[in-house]
Amino acid sequence: MEALAEAKAQGLTRLIGVSNFTIAHLQQAIAVVGAQEIATQQIEIHPFLQNRKVVEFARSQGIHLTAYMPLAYGKVMADPTIIEIAGAHQANPAQIALAWSLQQGFATIPSSTKRANLESNLAAQNIRLSDAEMAAIAKLDKGERLANPDFAPQWD
Ligand SMILES: NC(=O)c1ccc[n+]([C@@H]2O[C@H](COP(=O)([O-])OP(=O)(O)OC[C@H]3O[C@@H](n4cnc5c(N)ncnc54)[C@H](OP(=O)(O)O)[C@@H]3O)[C@@H](O)[C@H]2O)c1
Repeated sequence: MEALAEAKAQGLTRLIGVSNFTIAHLQQAIAVVGAQEIATQQIEIHPFLQNRKVVEFARSQGIHLTAYMPLAYGKVMADPTIIEIAGAHQANPAQIALAWSLQQGFATIPSSTKRANLESNLAAQNIRLSDAEMAAIAKLDKGERLANPDFAPQWD
């Protein structure tokens, strides 16, 4: 983080972001460069892994969050609750998962190899979920972490 702050001071980068930081990592980073120097923390967030401890800590420090794998690598398409909410909005389940993420203020970065999916994912910005729908999706959290390589840290 010191080296990145130095790179920023030299004008080599405009912003510094971090990814897959635990709360302990964030605390260390904040001690070194200050929370205001961390433009975003990118972590896995989707209905089945809501990562609430890290989200709450980052928010308490004013650190913006980026939600990666927001479709749980396509698994959201098969979830009955999400399918039902999608029906009520004439939307598809991917759009509902993305709307749920965007509505919490996360920068949300799905990927797709298909133009039609890219287009429909972008249109998720126009969906507004009710408080009851947000709460129903909040209940789907089961700590299902998909990005967990053997070099991963001790997750919160
Ligand atoms: N920082 C990190 O450690 C980290 C780790 C993992 C991922 N990421 C980043 O997160 C981003 C997204 O992650 P991801 O691709 O792993 O997961 P994802 O966005 O949750 O899921 C992508 C999968 O969903 C499918 N999909 C996308 N849109 C769809 C739609 N509208 N309907 C049905 N299926 C749809 C895609 O298939 P099609 O191609 O067939 O549409 C693909 O199989 C990437 O930019 C990735 O680099 C970061």
